[in-house]
Amino acid sequence: MQKVRIAPSLLSADFAHLAQVVHQCEAAGADLLHLDVMDGHFVPNLTFGPLVVGAIRPHTQLPLDCHLMVEHPERSLAAFAEAGADWISVHVEACVHLHRTLQAIRTLGKRAGIVLNPLTPLEYAYEAVSQCDFVLLMSVNPGFGGQEFIPEVLRRIERLREFLEREGYSHVDIEVDGGIHVGNVAEVVRAGATVIVSGSGLFRGELSANLRRMREAIAAAVAGGGDMLPQP
Ligand code: DX5
Ligand code: ZN
Repeated sequence: MQKVRIAPSLLSADFAHLAQVVHQCEAAGADLLHLDVMDGHFVPNLTFGPLVVGAIRPHTQLPLDCHLMVEHPERSLAAFAEAGADWISVHVEACVHLHRTLQAIRTLGKRAGIVLNPLTPLEYAYEAVSQCDFVLLMSVNPGFGGQEFIPEVLRRIERLREFLEREGYSHVDIEVDGGIHVGNVAEVVRAGATVIVSGSGLFRGELSANLRRMREAIAAAVAGGGDMLPQP
C-alpha cells in the first residue's frame, strides 16, 4: 500500500528557532514539512511568505509542502517555487482560474494540490483530479493551529478515497490537515488519508516521542486493515 507520510506543521513551532525545529523534524523522521502561508485576507491570520520558505530550504532535504491560504495565489507561485517549495496547494475559493493555476504549478515542476475547506463540495476534487498530485482536505477551518478535528470530515475522506480508487487515481494523495493527533490519527488513515498534517499534535510536548507514537498508531491502523486503505 501507499506509504502514509507525516508532515509536521511548523505553524505550531517556535518561529524564533526555525532552523533548529527543521533539523529536529528531520531527525525525528518526518516525511515532509508543512508550511502554512496566510495573508490576513483569505484567512484571518498572517504568517510568512517565500522569504521564510527560502530561509528554511538550505536546512533540510525534506520536501517543503506550501499550503497557500492566500488570495490570488497565482501571483506568487513562481516566488514559492524559486524559494524551494516542492508541493504547492491552493484553496479552490481563492482561484478564479483554478485549472490554469494548477497547470502553472506543474509547469514550475512542483506537485500541485487543491485544498477543500470542511464544507467545500468534494466535486471540486472530482473535476480537478487529473490536474492534481494531491488533494488537501481541511479538517478544521483554516487560519489557526490547535483547533478540534471536525468529525464529519472522516466521511469525506472515505468518499474521496472511493472515488480515487474507482476512477484510476489511486496515486493521488489525500492530505488531511487540522486537529490530528496520536489519539485520532488511526481513523484518519483508515478513512483513506495518505499524508497527515499535524501541528499542535506533534509540537505540544516532545516532538520526537509524539512523532514516533503517531507513526506507531498509523502502522497499527494499516496492519488492522480496512476497506478504505489506499490500494498499492
Ligand atoms: C490551519 C493550518 C494547519 C495547522 C494545523 O489553517 O492549515 O496546517 O497548522 O494545526 P493543528 O494540527 O494544530 O490543527
Ligand atoms: Zn495547513
